[in-house]
Amino acid sequence: MDTDRNDVMDSEPPPLVRRRLLGSLAVAVPAVAAGWAVAGRDRRPAARAPETVAGTTWAAAAAAVPPEGPRQAGVDRPAQPQQNATLAVFDLPPPDGAAARNSGERPFLARLLSDLGRRITALCSDTGPELGGLASGDLSVTVGVGPRLVASVDGRLPGAAGLPEDLERAVPDHARQGDLMVQLCAADPQVVAHAERVLTGWLGERSARARWSQGGFRPPAREPGPVRNLLGFLDGVSVPRTERELAREVWLAGPERVRGATIAVVRRLRLDVAGFLAQDVTGQERVIGRQRSDAAPLSGGGPAAAVDLGAKTADGRYLVPLMSHVRRAHPAATGSGLMLRRGYSFSNGTGDQGLLFIAFQRDLRTYVETQRRLDDGDELSAFATATASGTFLVLPGFSAGRPLGSSVFA
Ligand code: HEM
Repeated sequence: MDTDRNDVMDSEPPPLVRRRLLGSLAVAVPAVAAGWAVAGRDRRPAARAPETVAGTTWAAAAAAVPPEGPRQAGVDRPAQPQQNATLAVFDLPPPDGAAARNSGERPFLARLLSDLGRRITALCSDTGPELGGLASGDLSVTVGVGPRLVASVDGRLPGAAGLPEDLERAVPDHARQGDLMVQLCAADPQVVAHAERVLTGWLGERSARARWSQGGFRPPAREPGPVRNLLGFLDGVSVPRTERELAREVWLAGPERVRGATIAVVRRLRLDVAGFLAQDVTGQERVIGRQRSDAAPLSGGGPAAAVDLGAKTADGRYLVPLMSHVRRAHPAATGSGLMLRRGYSFSNGTGDQGLLFIAFQRDLRTYVETQRRLDDGDELSAFATATASGTFLVLPGFSAGRPLGSSVFA
């Protein structure tokens, strides 16, 4: 840790790092300069008018997010994540020996997933009793499968490897990994709760066992863009946004089986919110590396400016502190890609509040290299404890003619 600190303190960034920095600026600038919104990506039908049922006016449902398409919903669409979410992780019955693995598990999975896709399509266009009479609105359901299942098809496929053991060691066994991830998001928390109940019951009837789950929330946003997390800082500033950035950083282009898939890393991070807020604002900003008010980087410029890791004070100290979160996590420092972070705050009562970290990337190394760099001296990490963790291959999109999971398991 200290070696690293001195290395960076005493010298200019080496050429490779400078090249990566320039490369990453090319990632950050168009997204930021374009404002937070990405025009044209969020084509949603107009919201329905409020409905009157037995004298009660029901709130207008948010505009629908089509569940079907070349890629699943809940990753880059809607462009502004819905305000409420639940992430539920399940175990599927283990294969009963090698013979069953070859002859039994793949057809079982193929059927389960294709039925699940149809179930999701029905749920996302529901106005009936399943959701307690509520319209599904902008409900999105995103499905991922764990490394055990991907490896049972082909150990070389993206998603076949889990997180390295040392990154999960501190997480209790019962909240580690799992076979199936279902991420449910909607503006209306009750829609999320009903959809979770319905799908958990449906999966339970097919032998899936709930492993861990976590609800989350985000504050309302006046316009698409980052929102504040429980530490009071804008989160989700530096992420891929345009189609080009998403194609480069998030979506898998091959092999054919996983075209249109992505890799999710999910971590429930309990935060010492009180401890973080006990620092003065300048101290908090030095831990993050951005200003609390508007997320402007400490290297200068406004909120839309790219982080300049090389900027120094007159007496030679880096403006973005060496152990600050944005420096440690920055692609120029990690040498990795830029993940799409789409997390939610959570509160399970005093003492258990934090960030349900959800990130999508086309290569698990993006997360792993970033996490290692954070573990090696990020000041923010001192306020965080991982209490659940996993990685999942978010399956390619689906439609009536291309059932969920068919390219991987059929
Ligand atoms: C401990 C809980 C965490 C909190 C509260 C948190 C919060 C933040 C905040 C406020 C920012 C600056 C604004 C932005 O760019 O969104 C940020 C940036 C970032 N964080 Fe985190 N984060 C946490 C954990 C993580 C983890 C576990 C990772 C990945 C291993 C990560 C990866 C990143 C990345 C890649 C950036 C952008 C860096 C840049 O290019 O400027 N964060 N985070």
